[in-house]
Amino acid sequence: MDKIYLDYAATTPLDSRVLDVMLPYFSNKFGNPSSVHRYGQQAEAAVDSARETVATVLNCHPDEIVFTSCGSESDNLALRGAAFPRRENTGAMRIITSKGEHHAVSKTAEQLEKYYGFKVEWLQLDSFGMVTPESVENVIAADASIVSVMYANNEIGTINPIQKIAEICHQHGVLFHSDAVQAGAYLPVDVQELGVDLLSLGGHKFYGPKGVGALYVRKGTPLLPMLTGGGQEFGQRAGTHNVPYIVGFAEALRLAAHERNERAIHVKPLRDQIIGTVLEQIPDTIVTGHLERRLPQHASFAFKNADGNLLLTLLDAAGFACSSGSACKTGNPEPSEVMAAIGLSPDWGLGSLRITLGEGTLPSHIEKLLNILPQLVQQSRELIQG
Ligand SMILES: Cc1ncc(COP(=O)(O)O)c(C=O)c1O
Repeated sequence: MDKIYLDYAATTPLDSRVLDVMLPYFSNKFGNPSSVHRYGQQAEAAVDSARETVATVLNCHPDEIVFTSCGSESDNLALRGAAFPRRENTGAMRIITSKGEHHAVSKTAEQLEKYYGFKVEWLQLDSFGMVTPESVENVIAADASIVSVMYANNEIGTINPIQKIAEICHQHGVLFHSDAVQAGAYLPVDVQELGVDLLSLGGHKFYGPKGVGALYVRKGTPLLPMLTGGGQEFGQRAGTHNVPYIVGFAEALRLAAHERNERAIHVKPLRDQIIGTVLEQIPDTIVTGHLERRLPQHASFAFKNADGNLLLTLLDAAGFACSSGSACKTGNPEPSEVMAAIGLSPDWGLGSLRITLGEGTLPSHIEKLLNILPQLVQQSRELIQG
């Protein structure tokens, strides 16, 4: 049986062109960029060049890029790193973030509240999963230390109005961070256009390697390093550089930016075919997230009175790798926070499904999926009712 991968929002395969540029840094070009000798210089040149590539895509200065170990670390560094100095400098205690954030942001905010005395303000989502500029306007004040709102939602694909939110933050003199880990693959990440002070990216969402990310830090933004030690990354993140992964990250981001339009043109019609057919053929179904303001490769649904985890197992047995928004704690499945935040009751929220497409997705894959999905949803409904 063929296996068909439809979970590109979870991770993407490494682009072979990216692997090619990484390989020498695992073997003969193995130096430590911090070393003085020419092995070190060679590795340092590779990191410098990667930083310039990333800065070109982000439209910023190379020394505003901090390489990290993943998107989660970038989010942690943004929130923790900015919240502490801002509190020290201005006394600001409030962290404003949304109910739709990835745990890399929401758990970090919760910890800052529980252990470090910050106060977290949670922005509600509208029924499309969007954080509206008005909702930010309603709670923001100069005593906010940082606002963090994701660019695009991983579970439901909704794209937030980042520019407008950034403007509001700056009118109040508050820092703005955006988690662009899902957005990096398909949306422009020009930090001047977006107006962000901090922006997180993760390499494995756009055909780069896992275990490497970056944080954009606007010049002049005070940042407390979370990893202390050597002075790498302008003193903002200690640790010997992971040279091959940094090189791979930059090449993958460069290709994503360069090929953005073609990649979107490839996936979007297939995504629309999925959404149209599922809504037409499967009763008691809604699309989760926004219909227009959504990532071009992202289709997500809630099926009433279905079990999302069971559906994933049935899909897997039929050869399809998809994902769901419900975190199954043994014997006690719960809908994800995002499903609750968009107002879905558990009878809807538990039956969520995320189908995300990518470079390897073929029209025939979607035909096969759509041929079998209605009957699998029906089975997952019958099994939980029986
Ligand atoms: C929106 C978002 N933020 C952060 C992360 C974490 O990224 P990483 O897996 O690189 O730590 C993910 C990963 O799924 C994500 O989707």
